[in-house]
Amino acid sequence: MENHLRGIVEAYEREEVVNYYVAGWFNPGLRPTEEALIEKYFPKGGRILNVGCGAGRETFPLAEKGFEVVAIDITPKLLFFARKRNEELGQKVEFVLCDACHLPFRDGSFNSYYMTPVMLQYISGRQNRIRLLREAKRVLRPNGTCLVSFLHLEFASLSLLLRAFRRGIAEPETGGQGSGIGREKAKGGESQKLGDLVQKVKKGLKIAWTESTFGIWFEVYWFFANLYRRGRRRWLKEKHQGPEVGDYRYIVRAGRHREELEWVFYHYYTPRESLEDVKQAGFNVLEIVTMKEFEDKFFLSALRKGVYRFYVLI
Ligand SMILES: C[S@@+](CC[C@H](N)C(=O)[O-])C[C@H]1O[C@@H](n2cnc3c(N)ncnc32)[C@H](O)[C@@H]1O
Repeated sequence: MENHLRGIVEAYEREEVVNYYVAGWFNPGLRPTEEALIEKYFPKGGRILNVGCGAGRETFPLAEKGFEVVAIDITPKLLFFARKRNEELGQKVEFVLCDACHLPFRDGSFNSYYMTPVMLQYISGRQNRIRLLREAKRVLRPNGTCLVSFLHLEFASLSLLLRAFRRGIAEPETGGQGSGIGREKAKGGESQKLGDLVQKVKKGLKIAWTESTFGIWFEVYWFFANLYRRGRRRWLKEKHQGPEVGDYRYIVRAGRHREELEWVFYHYYTPRESLEDVKQAGFNVLEIVTMKEFEDKFFLSALRKGVYRFYVLI
């Protein structure tokens, strides 16, 4: 097993973490955002690959909805509890221990692919993350739907600094239908059309501003941070891969025990990078949504700022 994966497994096998993910069966279960996107995009009764299932928070509700679910994870202890729960519930989910970058499934064997939020970011090295996405494309049938989420830190950090802009943080361009789930389409005559046009122009300007200004600050910050890290490593004669723009460390959460747990590798995406990577893997973006579009309450304050973006890919 590769080094950075070993760190993930060690962190996720800790008792507090296991208890936290086992508790996820009951709270929160499938989140409203997940529910809305799955209802809209995954064909009923189809075969789903659930990636990074952990103890099965999202797996069992999917099985209860009538999907044929195959669920994978890299942490044996979490899969142990997931399998136990599977028996208790009398479900027929197939759990497989494997790395999402190397899937042991034939080409075109799934209708849908669902990767749990906070997983892709654990993969160290851009080529490995693209490889993971290519694997997703490979195991999907033609026109199969892939639902993954990306964490865009600059939306969080800059929105803290520029509260005035918090509500105005725009969607990155999707090249698809835009972000329309759950919103009512505007109806009306000419004045409404003019209003729509004004809104579109405003949104376009906002996107240009966000992408050109905020994105650059994110990259400038990481340029200097990585310069420092490289220098430090050379000084200490440490041999490491990277770092790349957006490479960071993250603490594996387990409710209130947060401080006691270990740091693991973590990668924050820029919107440009995520769009390039999904393209390189052979996907087209159908829609991009934030959790705040569906949920009034958030279990992480960062979600309120739209840092997680669900990408619907085909
Ligand atoms: C944030 S947890 C989510 C668990 C569960 N889906 C939930 O929401 O409760 C992320 C999961 O991804 C798994 N994971 C991390 N890297 C992985 C990889 N390369 N391949 C498969 N699973 C991985 C971890 O073991 C962990 O269970």
